[in-house]
Amino acid sequence: MGKLNDKVVVVTGSVSAIPGYDSIGSATVREALAEGAAGVVISDINDELGEAFAKSLNEQYGTGRALYVHTDVRDPKDVEKLFDITEKTYGRVDAVMANAGVATAEDFDKDPEAVLKSRKFIQSINEDGVFHTALYGSRLMIKHGTKGSIVLVSSIHGVVGRPKVVNPDTGDVLIDRFNLIQYTMGKHGVVGLSKALALQLAEYGIRVNTVNPGYIMTPLFQAAVNADKGELAKEKTLATDAFDFTQLAALHPLCNDPVEQADIVPRGKFGGRMGVPVEIAKPAVFLMSDESSFVTGQKLVIDGGYTAG
Ligand SMILES: NC(=O)c1ccc[n+]([C@@H]2O[C@H](COP(=O)([O-])OP(=O)(O)OC[C@H]3O[C@@H](n4cnc5c(N)ncnc54)[C@H](O)[C@@H]3O)[C@@H](O)[C@H]2O)c1
Repeated sequence: MGKLNDKVVVVTGSVSAIPGYDSIGSATVREALAEGAAGVVISDINDELGEAFAKSLNEQYGTGRALYVHTDVRDPKDVEKLFDITEKTYGRVDAVMANAGVATAEDFDKDPEAVLKSRKFIQSINEDGVFHTALYGSRLMIKHGTKGSIVLVSSIHGVVGRPKVVNPDTGDVLIDRFNLIQYTMGKHGVVGLSKALALQLAEYGIRVNTVNPGYIMTPLFQAAVNADKGELAKEKTLATDAFDFTQLAALHPLCNDPVEQADIVPRGKFGGRMGVPVEIAKPAVFLMSDESSFVTGQKLVIDGGYTAG
């Protein structure tokens, strides 16, 4: 028996921009199918790779198990359509993961117009997009009397208020383009939304929780460290010479190996490591599954000890 046997799952932002390496959403899609999900809807704005991802999963798990639907989560109409198509295809939705998100923003010290522009952009995806997904996902659950689970993706930056990521010993800023004020506001908002929605939807038996990852080796992270975001698509590997990941890795003190992908995980010189997507996917699937049937309104921080100190 898989944890998600017979369940229908929707994950937003679930394509990886670098084939061969997962993002958090694509890893969750894989994990959901491995745990027996009857159908998984992959939704993203990266249509070419999304269609290819669904095709490869249908070859692996059987025709009809995965479906790609173009969805820009900024647009409520797109999100409404995503759940209409899910209903038409699979009849209902049991679990939703509002995962689509972006990280890079303009430095707070810079020209206010540019700061505000980047705030609006982040807000449109990380806050509005999550809200749209929770709204239309829960409506479909209520319509069919589904006692479902909604997982919102926040971050450790939904727990702490760091404006920049710095080396705690030297004070050096570790990623110039990772200006976290706009991101932090949104990711804290997602935690608040999950608590309020957990109470709002409790009478329907719908649970709402967040996952709050530390730094996970994904294409998003590579985009944050690459000076030119346009270079991302050309990269065939997550590794980038432009950046020394060891200091970032050291912010997560835990010294162990992930159960999978130990070969790609950056490690600190003197201990600690970053996480890999499957380490978020498995807890997310736990929250989607009936194994967490009494868990709601909670945040599950998955960070190798980053926020423990
Ligand atoms: N990687 C990390 O270290 C980390 C840490 C904490 C939280 N998170 C959060 O996890 C989530 C996934 O991050 P990731 O690292 O896998 O990112 P990623 O960039 O690898 O994947 C995100 C996906 O979202 C899609 N997307 C972007 N804008 C979209 C839009 N408007 N509509 C629909 N899809 C859109 C992208 O095409 C991409 O496929 C994000 O919410 C991010 O903030 C990531």
